Amino acid sequence: MSEYRKWTLASHPVGVPDRDCFALVPCAFDDIEAGEVLIKVDYFSLDPGMRGRLSGDSYAAGLKIGDTIESAGVGTILASKSEKFAPGDVVSGALGWSEAVVHRDRGLKKIEQGLLSEKLSATAFIGVLGVPGLTAWFGLNDLGAPTQGDTLVISSAAGPVGATCGQLGKHLGLRVVGIAGGPKKCAYLSDLGFDEAIDHKAGTPLNAAIAAACPDGVNIFFDNVGAETLDAALVNMAPNGRIVVSGQVAEYNRENPIGIREVTRFITHRLRMEGLVVYDYAPKFSDAISQMAALINAGTLSYTEDIIDGIENAPDAYAGLFGGDNFGRRLIKT
Ligand SMILES: NC(=O)c1ccc[n+]([C@@H]2O[C@H](COP(=O)([O-])OP(=O)(O)OC[C@H]3O[C@@H](n4cnc5c(N)ncnc54)[C@H](OP(=O)(O)O)[C@@H]3O)[C@@H](O)[C@H]2O)c1
Repeated sequence: MSEYRKWTLASHPVGVPDRDCFALVPCAFDDIEAGEVLIKVDYFSLDPGMRGRLSGDSYAAGLKIGDTIESAGVGTILASKSEKFAPGDVVSGALGWSEAVVHRDRGLKKIEQGLLSEKLSATAFIGVLGVPGLTAWFGLNDLGAPTQGDTLVISSAAGPVGATCGQLGKHLGLRVVGIAGGPKKCAYLSDLGFDEAIDHKAGTPLNAAIAAACPDGVNIFFDNVGAETLDAALVNMAPNGRIVVSGQVAEYNRENPIGIREVTRFITHRLRMEGLVVYDYAPKFSDAISQMAALINAGTLSYTEDIIDGIENAPDAYAGLFGGDNFGRRLIKT
């Protein structure tokens, strides 16, 4: 490998980002210095939540023109000037949309090959055992405050966050209803053990579909979508219901967010709504990862990956997230 390519930000997007917002830049390798490693990036993730940072500041600073697009990745150490890593080690970390990266030896996690199995791939560490899975874990267990028998409704339930959340909910003894786009995704939710799947593209008004699926009301709404989906869930909340704001994917590309209309329900039904930033739970990550890895190995928790070949396809694959094209955790194989 004498040269590598990476995607940088070419312009701040308005609406769904198109290819012109990104530039594929050839790079020459620099020498690595003490405390650094050179990593060949094998896979990197495409995350809807990055959308905000392409246009401006979010809970982390916005990207500037020319910055490498940030994401989680799995890669192999090619060269090391660190005592922590040796050539051949497989690591996960914030590697970016790139074929290779020179990285400090901090913020990288060695993936022990002994942990991997048919059920657990290295890429799981940037999916079900990475930010998406941890968002589901802490959003449900902490903000959702689940009690056995509760009804949990999840929007974008077939995505990596939603599908993990639903399976964790079943494991806790909840009644789980997922909302997803199309019959294939709804069949997937049934295969995962969800009690009901609502196809938001089927034409039935969403509030009526939720009412039919949740005759006793919704105790926990785990929201990845926002806008009209959030209002449809709000009018079905049970007294003292909890709304976990994980994401607002239906709002990310709007200049003027739709927001919430059904606010009165908060008063009449004593509802509580709270957002999370998963990184706030960082001190508890390793315990959660161990528990979720045990569930995966026991066959209680599974995950689906949607792997697209070729770094050149990253922008289109990213835009497709906002049209519902992905089936599971969308990754680029470089
Ligand atoms: N708070 C945190 O710390 C944190 C961390 C990570 C992720 N998140 C959030 O978690 C959410 C889920 O992330 P993910 O990685 O698992 O991705 P994901 O759910 O797979 O997101 C893409 C999916 O969102 C749905 N979608 C896209 N545009 C939509 C629209 N306008 N209306 C309704 N549905 C739409 C589509 O599913 P359908 O085909 O089923 O409609 C699409 O396949 C995102 O909102 C993300 O920002 C939050």
